[in-house]
Amino acid sequence: MARVFKDDIVVSVDVGTTKICVIIAKRLGNGDVDLLGIGTVPSIGLKKGVVVDINKAVTSIRKAIREAEVMAGTMVEQAYVGIAGGHISSLNSQGIVPIKNGEVSQKDINTVISAAQAVPIPEDQQILHVLPQYFIVDSRDRVQNPLGMHGVRLEAQVHIVVGSVASVQDLVKCCQLAGIKVKDIVLEQLASAEAVLSYDERELGVAVLDIGGGTSDLALYYSGTIRHTRVIPVAGNHFTNDLAVGLHTTINGAERVKQRYGNLFVSPSDIGKQIQVEHVQGNRYQDVALKQVQDILKARAKELLGIVQKEIVQYNLEHFVTSGLVLTGGGSLLDGFRQLASESFGMPARIGYPKSEDQLPELLESPLYATGYGLLLHAMKKEKNNMINNLQGPMTYRVFMRMKSWVSDFF
Ligand SMILES: Nc1ncnc2c1ncn2[C@@H]1O[C@H](COP(=O)(O)OP(=O)(O)OP(=O)(O)O)[C@@H](O)[C@H]1O
Ligand SMILES: [Mg+2]
Repeated sequence: MARVFKDDIVVSVDVGTTKICVIIAKRLGNGDVDLLGIGTVPSIGLKKGVVVDINKAVTSIRKAIREAEVMAGTMVEQAYVGIAGGHISSLNSQGIVPIKNGEVSQKDINTVISAAQAVPIPEDQQILHVLPQYFIVDSRDRVQNPLGMHGVRLEAQVHIVVGSVASVQDLVKCCQLAGIKVKDIVLEQLASAEAVLSYDERELGVAVLDIGGGTSDLALYYSGTIRHTRVIPVAGNHFTNDLAVGLHTTINGAERVKQRYGNLFVSPSDIGKQIQVEHVQGNRYQDVALKQVQDILKARAKELLGIVQKEIVQYNLEHFVTSGLVLTGGGSLLDGFRQLASESFGMPARIGYPKSEDQLPELLESPLYATGYGLLLHAMKKEKNNMINNLQGPMTYRVFMRMKSWVSDFF
């Protein structure tokens, strides 16, 4: 295979806690996407979205890239990489500037967004994304694109995502050592939202919760833009660990039980049923009631949904979730999660599957691949915008605006 980089090839790397997923796709002239290769391998060397063993993480990333390359029949050099982890936090900020010549220019927009970024950030933290939410031109509120509007005062409301410099450096380094240059780093829940939310949900207001292995990543959208993000350190692996402890079984045994029998609403006819579970010391099996499995999983599910609910109340975001809650990520595959979320929140809930106008390969048609596919969609959008105009306008800005080329700053 020749190591070539073709302009129309885009690559996404989702470095998750449980699996690494690499997708290679080709942009077609009519705007369609042709998926060429997918590589997915168990992730070793990462915990709660953060690299804990560089060598192991590099080996896993390299393996996933190789798998996707073989399937695609081409080698790749650059990729869009997702980031998550407990080190990520976010805040809303605003900036105000005078409009220079009575009419909003691109320069005014850039200046007001820069002004909105002037917030104190701890030294070990770095801005990852500045996501403009809306603008105010004099008394005209919630303007999506102020370019060309008349007035004297321009205000921007932005959402700022920050992360630990060291954690980002580790992730970038792992990708580089695995032979891939990082083109952009993208917050994972923004990618997942891109893959699973509809246009209407984003406009009317929705919360998307990506329940992964190590973290559950929350994002709230309203009026088409991001309002709030939070990384919650409770996810699928905690459910498994609870089962392992509660049932005195191995981690692998608990994972099997969760995926095969786990249900937050066991039917009355099955509630007394017993299943065979291996003992933690091996070599022997024990009988466990499905009710016990349900109770252990339900306690964790309630805890997670409770944290989300608390977050929404604490930040007065109730009126931003009119379309309800969308659960995605592998953890959302636990039977009964949708029902429990809907009951707990008193609003509609659904499971978010990656959506596409074209038929997706069967493997990608799962909440497990929402982030990987969303990263690819983001990459497509970004490449297209770069091609159309290097000087991005506010509507393209709105999607993801990079502060600076901080990835290349590191190396
Ligand atoms: N059928 C299933 N039922 C319940 N849980 C499941 C099922 N399939 C996968 N999971 C859980 O999904 C989790 C992995 O999800 P996912 O692949 O989205 O995580 P990740 O992206 O690797 O992790 P993170 O996003 O936290 O870094 C695991 O905890 C796994 O137990
Ligand atoms: Mg994930």
